[in-house]
Amino acid sequence: MEFKMVLVFCLLLLTTLKTVVEACEQQGIPSTNDGTCSRDTCINRDVDNEPEDKHNNYKVDADSKETDKNNEDVSIEEGIVDEDEQEGVLEFRDYEFQPLARIIPGKVGDVEEIELEEGKFYKRITRSVNPPIFEIPNYLSVMECNMIISAALYAGLETSAVVGHDINEERNQASHLSEMSRVSEQTWLSSDTMPKTLWRRLVNRLSKLTQLPVEHLEVSEQMQVVSYVSGGHYHAHIDSTDTTDKLHLPCCAQTPECLEVDISTEGFEECCRICRYMTVLYYLSDVEEGGETAFPLADMPDDLFEEKFKDREFQSWHDLSNFCYNASVVVKPKRGTAIMWYNHLLDENGYLGHVDMRSNHGGCDIIKGNKWIANNWIAGTSFRDRNKPSMIY
Ligand code: OGA
Ligand code: FE2
Repeated sequence: MEFKMVLVFCLLLLTTLKTVVEACEQQGIPSTNDGTCSRDTCINRDVDNEPEDKHNNYKVDADSKETDKNNEDVSIEEGIVDEDEQEGVLEFRDYEFQPLARIIPGKVGDVEEIELEEGKFYKRITRSVNPPIFEIPNYLSVMECNMIISAALYAGLETSAVVGHDINEERNQASHLSEMSRVSEQTWLSSDTMPKTLWRRLVNRLSKLTQLPVEHLEVSEQMQVVSYVSGGHYHAHIDSTDTTDKLHLPCCAQTPECLEVDISTEGFEECCRICRYMTVLYYLSDVEEGGETAFPLADMPDDLFEEKFKDREFQSWHDLSNFCYNASVVVKPKRGTAIMWYNHLLDENGYLGHVDMRSNHGGCDIIKGNKWIANNWIAGTSFRDRNKPSMIY
C-alpha cells in the first residue's frame, strides 16, 4: 500500500516537472536560475532585453558614466534607460518609486471581500493591526502551488543563508538543530524560470492585492521558494534592514554589485541595506504538524514591547523552535493561503520609513511533514532615493 502511494507521488511529481520543462522550452526560456542573486536577495531581470553575455553586464562602476547614441552624457545616477542597449552597456529600469500604497487594516478578525481578478473574490482577514498583517485563504490554486514547487525543484535548491550569520559555522557549533537561526533550502524564481503565463497572472494578482503598480513589482525581487523538512525552522527576524544607523546606505536593489558579496560577511552589511517594504508569503503545501508562521511582537502594547525587545539577546521570543506558541499571532500553514505584512512604516512623504520591529516573525519547527513556502519581497525606497534607478538587470 505504502509503496503504491510513493509510486503515485513520484509519477505525479514527474508529470508536473515535465509540464514545467515543456512550458519553459515552448517559450524559449532557459530553465536555470542565473539571475542577479545572492543567497538572500535576488533582483528581477528584464528577460525580453537580456543580452547574450549577462555576467559582463553586471560588472558596474556606480560612478561611471555612459554615453548614449546621441552622444549626450547619461549619468547612471539619473537612471536613463536606453531600450536599444548595445552589448556591454548597462541597462537600468527607469521606474521611479511613487509614494507607497498601504492597506489599512480593520480590527483583528475582520474579513473583507476583495476582487483580485474580474469576478473573482477573495477574503482578506486582518490578523494584526500593528503591523498590519493579513491572511488571504485560497489565494493560490492547487495547480499554481504545484507549478511553483516543480519550477523550484527544477531550478535546484540550496541551503538557505541569513544576512550576518555564518550558517556553516552555526552548523558546526550547534548541538541541536534548534540552535541554528535557519534550517531550510531555497531557490529563486522569476519570469524566466517559471512559465511566463503563470508569472504574469501572479504579478497582476499581487498588484491588485497590494495596490502597488505592476511596474513596481517587476522591479522588486524575484520570488524565493523555500522548502523545510522535519526540524526545519527560521527563528524570528525581520525581512528588511533593522538598523536606523544605515540610512546613509543605498538600497541593495539599487546597487547590484553588492549582490556579488557573500551575505554572511561584513562586506555585505557595509555595502547596502535591504529595503523590503512588504512581504507576501504563500504556503505552497499543508504541513502535518508544526511549521506555523509566528509574529511574537505583533500588536504588542508599547510597554510590553519595550520589555520584550530588550530581552532579545537573552533568548525566548525569537527562538521559534521552543517558543512558537507564545507569539501573539500564529498562522497555520495551509496550501494556497497567502499572508502579507508591512516590514516598514511610512515616512512623512509616504516613502519607506523606519523598519517596524513589531514585524519580527519566523517559521516554527516542522514537527511532521514537509513545508513549502514562497516569498515575494516588495521593494520600497526612501524619499531621497526615489528617482535613482531602481534595479539593474
Ligand atoms: C522567511 C520567513 C516564515 C515561514 O522565509 O523569511 O519568514 O513561515 N518564513 O516559513
Ligand atoms: Fe521572513
